[in-house]
Amino acid sequence: MTVTEAVEARRSVRGFLDTPVDPALIRALVERAARAPSGGNLQPWHIDVVGGAALDGFKAELAAALAAGHKETPAYAIYPLALDDPYEARRRAIGEAMYGHIGIPREDRAGRRAWFARNFAFFGAPVGLFCTVERGMGPPQWSDLGMYLQTLMLLIVEAGLAACPQECWAIYPETVTRFLGTPAERMLFCGMAIGYEDTSEPANALRSERAPLEDWATFRFD
Ligand SMILES: Cc1cc2nc3c(=O)[nH]c(=O)nc-3n(C[C@H](O)[C@H](O)[C@H](O)COP(=O)(O)O)c2cc1C
Repeated sequence: MTVTEAVEARRSVRGFLDTPVDPALIRALVERAARAPSGGNLQPWHIDVVGGAALDGFKAELAAALAAGHKETPAYAIYPLALDDPYEARRRAIGEAMYGHIGIPREDRAGRRAWFARNFAFFGAPVGLFCTVERGMGPPQWSDLGMYLQTLMLLIVEAGLAACPQECWAIYPETVTRFLGTPAERMLFCGMAIGYEDTSEPANALRSERAPLEDWATFRFD
């Protein structure tokens, strides 16, 4: 597989088979992804991978907390409070496209909420991954986390696996970091569901759009 093929093939997958993933494979991918660049070679990422009975226990704990209406202060604001267009329009468009694929209309708010809650079961994936970072790290280091995570997702694709990055976990930072035993000086950035794609899941048929190049890039060679 070429890099171009991996980049084209990667999508956020939101439905997984319960086929187990070889822990040695995940370990190798997590390690290899650290070839990602980082400013000053800080390598500011911290990664926790959870599977097996530990993941089952965590998911059960989360499900019980959700059912009880448990709420936490989010780790950070996932989006700016005032999200202007074109960003707000893009966010709305991907939401509508996704719920359109699954067939949950806008009026069915409970249905959409319930579907969103599948995030907290890692969409059925047998492996969950969390990325944390020292609280003192700033935007440049957070961008390093993105480089790491995209490198990992491309390696995941190359290995025949699929993934969904998940910032939704920032809504429950206390539960996640307590479970992981994360030291207080570190905060949660995001999670990631990893496993073999369930191709029968309608949500997985979604191919997200991208804004045209002219909207966000300029080129000058004069
Ligand atoms: C940092 C990050 C966090 C994300 N968090 C979530 C999430 O919590 N739940 C979810 O279903 N998708 C999540 N996504 C997936 C995005 O919705 C997705 O990347 C975007 O719509 C583009 O689609 P694609 O990944 O299929 O190309 C996240 C993506 C990124 C990069």
